[in-house]
Amino acid sequence: MAINPPIDATKTPAWALLQQHFNDLQAEGINLRRWFDVDPERTSKLSFEAGDLHFDLSKNLIKPETLQLFAQLAKDVKLDERIEQMFTGAHINNTEDRAVLHTALRRPDSDKGQLMVDGQDVVKDVRDTLERIYAFADKVRSGEWKGVTGKRITTVVNIGIGGSDLGPNMAYEALKPYADAGISARYISNIDPNDLAEKTRDLDPETTMFIVVSKTFSTLETLTNAREARAWLLDQLQAKGAIDGSDASRAEAVQRHFIAVSTALDRVEAFGIDPQNAFGFWNWVGGRYSVDSAVGTSLVIVFGPQRFEEFLQGFNAIDTYYRATPFERNVVALMGLMNVWYVNFFGAHSHAVLPYDQYLHRFPAYLQQLTMESNGKSVRWDGTPVTSQTGEIFWGEPGTNGQHAFYQLIHQGTRLIPADFIAFANTPNPAKDGDQDVHELFLANYFAQTKALAFGKTAEEVRAEGTPEAIVPARVFTGNRPTTSIFGQALTPYALGELIALYEHITLTEGTVWGIDSFDQWGVELGKKLAQEITPAISQDDAALATQDQSTKALIDFYRSHRH
Ligand code: F6P
Repeated sequence: MAINPPIDATKTPAWALLQQHFNDLQAEGINLRRWFDVDPERTSKLSFEAGDLHFDLSKNLIKPETLQLFAQLAKDVKLDERIEQMFTGAHINNTEDRAVLHTALRRPDSDKGQLMVDGQDVVKDVRDTLERIYAFADKVRSGEWKGVTGKRITTVVNIGIGGSDLGPNMAYEALKPYADAGISARYISNIDPNDLAEKTRDLDPETTMFIVVSKTFSTLETLTNAREARAWLLDQLQAKGAIDGSDASRAEAVQRHFIAVSTALDRVEAFGIDPQNAFGFWNWVGGRYSVDSAVGTSLVIVFGPQRFEEFLQGFNAIDTYYRATPFERNVVALMGLMNVWYVNFFGAHSHAVLPYDQYLHRFPAYLQQLTMESNGKSVRWDGTPVTSQTGEIFWGEPGTNGQHAFYQLIHQGTRLIPADFIAFANTPNPAKDGDQDVHELFLANYFAQTKALAFGKTAEEVRAEGTPEAIVPARVFTGNRPTTSIFGQALTPYALGELIALYEHITLTEGTVWGIDSFDQWGVELGKKLAQEITPAISQDDAALATQDQSTKALIDFYRSHRH
C-alpha cells in the first residue's frame, strides 16, 4: 500500500474553522465559570467512556461544538486512513520502510490467520512467542527452573534502555500489588556504572536471573551492562565456590542465569545465551511501543501469564475503540486533537500528566519516550518541513507530591499547561486515619485541583476573606487552566494496558495532523556516533583530542587533569 504525502493540516478547511473558532472564543472571553453556568449539561456533553475508563473533558478550553471541528480536522488530514494503514500493516514508518503493528501484539488468539503482513501471519507469530514466554515464566515462577546451584530464582534483573527499559520498569512499579510468586524485578539501564553497582550490590547471584532486552542487541549501554553483569555473576559465583571456574561451568552458569529478548537472535547466541531461552519480536514493533511484546518478559515472570493476558486485553479494548468509534465521540482521537488545539492555537509548549496513584510514579517518564521520541520532529514523512509547531514536552509526577512542588506554576504562572489528571476509585491499600478513609482524602485532592485550575478565585472572593488589599493580587487565581480527568475503577493490568494504548493513539493522532512519521527516531543517532568517536580522545589519544571543537576539547582537558 503506497503512503500518500502528508496533508498540510494548516491548509485544510477545518484548520481555518478552528482558527475562526479560536478567535471567536478570545473575543467572547474564555471563561469556564460562565460556560458551566450557562450550560448545565456541559459536563455530560463532554464526558466519555472508553473501555472501563471514564473521561471528563469539560474543564478544557473547548465548547461542545469544538468537538465537531476537531472531528472535521481528523477527516481533513485523513486520520481514518492512517489508522487503517497502521492496523493493517502498511509501511507507515516510511523512513525505515517498516510496518507499525504494535496493535497486533494484543490481538486475541482467535484473530490468527486474519492479518497477513509481508507474507507473515502476524497474530500467529505473536501468540506462538507468547506461549513460549508463558511456558518459560511458569517454570521460573513455580521454581522448576533453577539457578546453577539448584536454588530457585527470586530476582529478575532487566537490562535494557529506552523502550527496552521504560515500559517494563513503569509497568512493574504500577502493578506491584499483583506480584504473587515471590519474585521481584530490578531494572538496569544507564551505562553509568553506578546503576549496575547499586542494583546488584545486595543481590545473591545464585537466585538472580538477568534478562538482556535489546531490539537490536547492539545498543552500547545494554551490551556493556550485560557484559558487566555476566562478569559480576561469574565472579560472585566463583568467589562463593559455587562454580569451579572452568569454561564449561561458566557457560552453564550463563545459560541458567541469562535469558534475552531481541529481534537479533543470532547476536544473542553469540553472547552465550541459549537460543531456547531467547524470545523474539519483530522490526514492526518500535522500541517505545514494545512493552506488550517479549520486552515485557520480566512482567510475565513477576505477575504471571494470566495477568499479562489481562494487560493485553486492556490495550486491545482501546485499540478496538479507537479504530471503530466515529471521531465526534472518539475520546482517544479527541484528546490527541485537543492537544493540537493547545499547541497550535494556544501556543502551549508542554503537557503535564499527573497520576493520583503512587504506583504510576514512572508513568510520566515512560510517556516522555513514547510521545517525545515519536513526535519531536521538524520534517514530515515526505521529508518536507513541518508547517506548524510540533511535539509537546510531556512531564509530570504523582499527586499529591507535585502539589507541593511545581503546581504553583500551573495555577498562577504565565504559561498555559494543559494537564491530564489520572485516578482510580479503588486502592489495593485501604487505610484509615481515625475515621477518615485516607484514599478519600487523597481523592479529594484529585477533585480539588482540577476545580481550582478551572474556576480559580477572583479578587472579590479573596477580599471577602478579609485579605489585606496589598496582597490580594498575589492570592488571585485566574482559573481557565485546562485539565482532563481520567478516572478508572482500579489500577489493574487491564487498566494499565488501556492507559498505555490511550497515549499511543494520542501520539499517532497528533503525529498525523503534523504529518510526522511518529515511528522513527533518527534524532538519537548523531550523539551515539559522536560518543563512539570521542571515546578514544578521552583517556589517551591526543591526535583524536586535537580534532575536537574547542569547547569539547576544554571539557576533556578538565577531565584529564582532574581524574584520580
Ligand atoms: O536510542 C534510541 C533507541 O533506539 C530507542 O528507540 C530504543 O527504545 C532504545 O534505543 C533501545 O534500543 P534497543 O532495544 O535496540 O537496545
